[in-house]
Amino acid sequence: MKLLLPILSLLSLTTAVPSERRQSSTSTPDAFTLNIRWSNSPLKGPLNANAGSFWTGKPTSSFCPETVPGCKLANATSFLAQDGQLFLNTAVPGGQQVYISPQGQLTYTPPHSAAIPTGSLTNLVSWSGDSGDSFLNPFLTYWLCNTDADATSWSVWLEYTNGTTGSITNAGSDGVNACTRIALEAMPYRGAGAWEFS
Ligand SMILES: *[C@@H]1O[C@H](CO)[C@@H](O)[C@H](O)[C@H]1NC(C)=O
Ligand SMILES: *[C@@H]1O[C@H](CO)[C@@H](O)[C@H](O)[C@H]1NC(C)=O
Repeated sequence: MKLLLPILSLLSLTTAVPSERRQSSTSTPDAFTLNIRWSNSPLKGPLNANAGSFWTGKPTSSFCPETVPGCKLANATSFLAQDGQLFLNTAVPGGQQVYISPQGQLTYTPPHSAAIPTGSLTNLVSWSGDSGDSFLNPFLTYWLCNTDADATSWSVWLEYTNGTTGSITNAGSDGVNACTRIALEAMPYRGAGAWEFS
């Protein structure tokens, strides 16, 4: 019975972390950008949402439907975390959720659709809080891979183990393009959210 108390207090410590994050700022509560860290390449700065995935070297594709009065385009891609899940910082009804596709690409739902393919991973948010840093789920292995069409546009992929062969696969690599390992660090964001990202 003596062991029970320390275990319980440990549990309450770990569950206390997310709510502290929630209360930590007032103006734009909890919004953050995800910034490239620990790349072996010169690539750095925040990720941009564009056409369903996340990029460096492509602009943020925020969008304002004509039917939304006073809508302002956001020039940055910011995120919110809720209950272990990751969302784009948008106002569009239904929101836009971020997930890892079954192919391993960091992806987001389009406006007005909550559909996420079976086999995706949505529970992305755990932070390594060791030195006050906030790295997005440090148990996952993130890569930036450029596209064959444009060597300056890089998007985020995660490697996985093929259950049949046991080989470690990064579907963002086609053997011709370049890929570099990264970590993603949450940095507080004080600017405006977007209506939606297209
Ligand atoms: C977005 O706009 C703000 C205010 O004009 C500016 O300070 C900031 O540098 C811009 N960010 C990007 C990523 O262009
Ligand atoms: C796993 O490897 C097998 C054999 O190479 C391949 O047919 C299959 O598509 C792979 N599965 C995934 C999810 O990559």
